[in-house]
Amino acid sequence: MERRSFLTRAWKTGAGFLAGAGAWTSWDLLRPRNAAGFNAKIRTVSPDTVPANTVLEIPEARAYLTKINDEIVALSEVCSHLGCRVPFCDSSGQFECPCHGSFFNRAGDLQGGPAPRGMDRFKIEIVDGVIEIDTAERESGAPPGTVTINEPPRGPPCTEGGHGA
Ligand code: FES
Repeated sequence: MERRSFLTRAWKTGAGFLAGAGAWTSWDLLRPRNAAGFNAKIRTVSPDTVPANTVLEIPEARAYLTKINDEIVALSEVCSHLGCRVPFCDSSGQFECPCHGSFFNRAGDLQGGPAPRGMDRFKIEIVDGVIEIDTAERESGAPPGTVTINEPPRGPPCTEGGHGA
């Protein structure tokens, strides 16, 4: 009888530990985190350091900062076609997607390729003299045919087929 009682108690204790471990693991996997780049406000740089003729990559926000017509914009580096990362090509001065050949001017306007729209933009705010990119506030890229700036490719592309070459 004592042995049976001992085994029952041991079984219940083990089951309790298992349930606790399972609950802890589930909570640890599912709890919200302080994500660096997703749905978070990312503090970046002073507005003075944003270039007007190229872009500044902000990897934590998966975005680029640039000045378009004296206005600072934050462009998402995620291609509006199927989500590849779109690098900026210094020689052409354009964004060139390596996956399926979409390309965009420095303002993110679609210039060619299968993407359905321009590059998405994030809301920005200047807080204490620093640009904050709000990655939770995304605005869809402009429709094809939009011309925000007149900057044709300034040189050779970085990718085969970049700017239709
Ligand atoms: S993912 Fe960029 S063109 Fe397809």
